Amino acid sequence: MSAPLPLRRVFVWDVPVRLGHWLLASAFIGAMLTADSEWLRLTHVRLGLAVVALVLFRVVWGFVGSPYARFREFITGPAAVWRYMRAVFSSTPEHHIGHNPAGGAAIVGLLALGLTTSLTGWLAYQDVGGEWMPELHGASACAMLTLVGIHVAGVILASVRHRENLVGAMVTGWKRASGGRP
Ligand code: HEM
Repeated sequence: MSAPLPLRRVFVWDVPVRLGHWLLASAFIGAMLTADSEWLRLTHVRLGLAVVALVLFRVVWGFVGSPYARFREFITGPAAVWRYMRAVFSSTPEHHIGHNPAGGAAIVGLLALGLTTSLTGWLAYQDVGGEWMPELHGASACAMLTLVGIHVAGVILASVRHRENLVGAMVTGWKRASGGRP
């Protein structure tokens, strides 16, 4: 039986991914906190616009960014997500240096909901679409909040199962792994 490969440091998340992530998280949390205030309505709208700008930037970066940031690196099909989810609760969890398949699916959902929440919010702010536009905006925001909860729970679960600090990696850009790109 061959010995396990020694762990080495791998640079995974470039600066735009990390900065974009924490700015997106802050803008989303800020928008949620200001959602019910008439007084902070303009701040809420501006935070929503920041979400759109950050999501659009991330979409572009998914095509031109560094290797682990690219969509083709982490967008998989439902079969891969299912396989990963089954393995994560087994004694041999599947390990990925970049985003795992379930994380990748959640990211696509978060980016899509970031766009729909902001777009419906902007249309509601412009009084377009009648009474159902604020309803749609609220429902989209609620779905996004739920997915953020699942995302954070997934980050904690994967960190525990793989015994690695994923939040630290999203701060520094580095992970410890056997393998990875040279
Ligand atoms: C505040 C609590 C949060 C923590 C601790 C957190 C942590 C993380 C971590 C560790 C990753 C990398 C996962 C991996 O290694 O595969 C990640 C990715 C990501 N998170 Fe979060 N996150 C938080 C909140 C959010 C929020 C509020 C959003 C969206 C509104 C969000 C959107 C994303 C996206 C889009 C990615 C992919 C990053 C990229 O590839 O550009 N996160 N998050």
